Amino acid sequence: MQSRTVSELLTQEIIIPEVEVKGWVKTFRANRFIALNDGSTLSNIQCVVDFENYDEALLKRVTTGAAIHVKGELVESQGKGQKVEIQVKELTVLGDSDPESYPIQPKKHSFEFLREHAHLRTRTSTFSAVMRLRSALSFAIHKYFNDNGFYYMHAPIITGSDAEGAGEMFQVTNLDLKNPPINEEGSIDYSKDFFGKETNLTVSGQLEAETYAMSLGKVYTFGPTFRAENSNTSRHLAEFWMIEPEVAFMDLAGNMDLAEDFMKSVIKYILDNNREDLEFLDKRLQDEDKTKPQDERSSMTLIEKLNFVTDNHFKRVSYTEAIDILRNSKPNKKKKFKYLIEDWGTDLQSEHERFLVERYFKCPVILFDYPANIKAFYMRLNDDGKTVRAMDILFPGIGEIVGGAQREERLDVLKQKMAAINIPEEDLWWYLDLRKYGTAVHSGFGLGFERLVMFATGMSNIRDVIPFPRTPQNAEF
Ligand code: 4AD
Ligand code: MG
Repeated sequence: MQSRTVSELLTQEIIIPEVEVKGWVKTFRANRFIALNDGSTLSNIQCVVDFENYDEALLKRVTTGAAIHVKGELVESQGKGQKVEIQVKELTVLGDSDPESYPIQPKKHSFEFLREHAHLRTRTSTFSAVMRLRSALSFAIHKYFNDNGFYYMHAPIITGSDAEGAGEMFQVTNLDLKNPPINEEGSIDYSKDFFGKETNLTVSGQLEAETYAMSLGKVYTFGPTFRAENSNTSRHLAEFWMIEPEVAFMDLAGNMDLAEDFMKSVIKYILDNNREDLEFLDKRLQDEDKTKPQDERSSMTLIEKLNFVTDNHFKRVSYTEAIDILRNSKPNKKKKFKYLIEDWGTDLQSEHERFLVERYFKCPVILFDYPANIKAFYMRLNDDGKTVRAMDILFPGIGEIVGGAQREERLDVLKQKMAAINIPEEDLWWYLDLRKYGTAVHSGFGLGFERLVMFATGMSNIRDVIPFPRTPQNAEF
């Protein structure tokens, strides 16, 4: 007989005389009721033991966290709370769990505590729900692109170029750091390094994805990216996953349409397929909200927020309009913003983004046509000579979730922009080639996967939506 998952057993309508299941004990009540979970679903299956028939020593080993193997009959449940349960006929402890030292007790633990026990935190309902949703969202993303004729492209992780030009990269080297080779000018001789040049972990697969868009037409990347920015916030990771579609012959308006349709589609997927986990997290968030002061509580539940995104148009607003709104806003006039908005051209901080989304428009917002000098070199310059065809999507509670642009496809303009910020043409000769041979309008964007998972699960710290977060001073596990 083959073991079944808890998820399979709980959906059975009929009595099955012989079933088998393996999992970890959540609780063992009254020496009789084992709540068993195997991660396949949020719910536990109740396993009922006739303790008279079992050795006391064996039952003592049925503790929270222990791995057990149960054989028995699947029957209609006598008690409330579940439709079916297992009448246990055979019980084996596969792996003991010392109740004195097992960190995940059947009680509420703080997220900080669970972060320190990230190797065990998916034994809790909250983290198992979050990680099942992470998996479902990842599938929904691949499904969306596959259904819409995109090819999945694997951009390299090790790269010689700084796509975002922000210089926030982790170097990759196998030189002896204590005794590196020195060249005639007295600096490190990278020709002796593994790749014969300076290399880093990628901050974005976009530049490479552009090469594939300009041959395969519609492509996307979905992989890890790395940023050595020292921002210890609840929205930044040093290692995060990014989805980057890139499409030939598509302009900025098409890019916005794609991003909106894509975001709605993946959120709809989990609303349709992951109801149990979403309802659990929805309730968790409502309980958490009750502990907050009235004015900090959210006006919508998690599921309402998700429905709100799928049901409403994303408001499209130019940077210039946004600056006007912000400049005349109450928090700006009353000097409530930490960074006051005075001049056109200043970069927006997350407090401004959140004001626009949460208080002014009260819906997802796409900001576009940003000042050229606050955006990356590859964005297409507008005819005004000072703005570029950039777009950022802002989500309630998250702020920036997507950043994208129409790319500069004109060789001469791109060269000028690179020269202005001292990017040597030799470094990006292949990127310039795309503008020499069959150049065309093309666009794309990057979605921060963990920010999407935060939005979809209602978790407020990005460290709680990735299995093992990498942040400044922290690379445990
Ligand atoms: O806005 P960014 O920097 O855009 C790019 O990297 C472009 N090359 C994308 C493209 O056009 N193909 O990053 C894109 C998104 C952000 O909107 C944010 O959601 C996420 O990546 N992101 C981070 N997520 C977690 N931790 C960090 N440190 C992040 N930095 C960016
Ligand atoms: Mg950005």
